Amino acid sequence: MELIHSVREAQARSDALRAAGRRLALVPTMGCLHAGHLSLVDEARRRADAVWLSIFVNPTQFGPGEDFERYPRTLDADLACCRTAGVDAVFLPAVEELYPEGSETWVEVGELTRPLCGRDRPGHFRGVTTVVTKLLLATRPTLAVFGEKDFQQLAVVRRLARDLPLGVEILGAPIVREDDGLALSSRNALLDPETRREARVLSRALDAAERAVAAGERRTAALLQAVTLELGKAPRGRIDYAELRDPERLAPSAERIPGPTLLALAVVFSADSGPVRLIDNRVLTPHPSAEDRPCS
Ligand code: PAJ
Repeated sequence: MELIHSVREAQARSDALRAAGRRLALVPTMGCLHAGHLSLVDEARRRADAVWLSIFVNPTQFGPGEDFERYPRTLDADLACCRTAGVDAVFLPAVEELYPEGSETWVEVGELTRPLCGRDRPGHFRGVTTVVTKLLLATRPTLAVFGEKDFQQLAVVRRLARDLPLGVEILGAPIVREDDGLALSSRNALLDPETRREARVLSRALDAAERAVAAGERRTAALLQAVTLELGKAPRGRIDYAELRDPERLAPSAERIPGPTLLALAVVFSADSGPVRLIDNRVLTPHPSAEDRPCS
């Protein structure tokens, strides 16, 4: 497995692969790898001849007071994971490699970045889209794989790749969960046993909403009530948002959900180590009922 540190070397190696007619897939990460990241590697492997994974804890997507300093860094274990998973190369740029001294160029996506994770984290998505653009320009892959765990991020990156001629296909991959339903996340490592137990409310809230939809509930307010009831069972959790939105444009849902609808959750847990913000989501798909069927 190769380790690539510089943009120049990444571009040269990528160009050589392309010239040899080989498809390259990139899996961008911030490290502290877990089975969720590795599922993206598997997906990449199915679609490409060579798989690269990048590890870069991107300072520009963390706001002041967020957990950039505390973000878990486990490079040796990450490299071992990558070797086992059959990653061909790991791209490990230093901060100055992606943000040369005096950098003042940003890539920003519009409306899609305003709600949900963008509402109280100004600059977060600007940091994500800027670094993703830099990673894509540095590695010039045929395709890049992102997780549905960060549903809004995936939607924003798809838009970025549609709006700019980056020549890369963006692929989404499903959420990988622990046995008790908690979505895998590098931040789970920051939970103490008590908040780890409480964090199960996220997937339970999604399950509750899914059950309600399966039972015929379509009213947005009633669905959100079922969700907040579950989330309320975590005394050390504070709801950041619990929202129903259309999965494409992320526009808020009307009084009743009309079809497949994104339920997106963010909860901040007061862990012993400090606040830990976890997100989760599911697309709720109502089955057509008699009232929705066109008259015949
Ligand atoms: P990071 O949080 O390390 O996540 C890297 C990728 O792994 C993202 O596409 C994320 O959606 C995916 N992922 C995380 N947990 C997952 C899970 N449980 N199941 C499936 N996929 C999962 O997201 C970032 O890094 C950064 O914002 C990045 C895109 C690298 C830009 O800095």
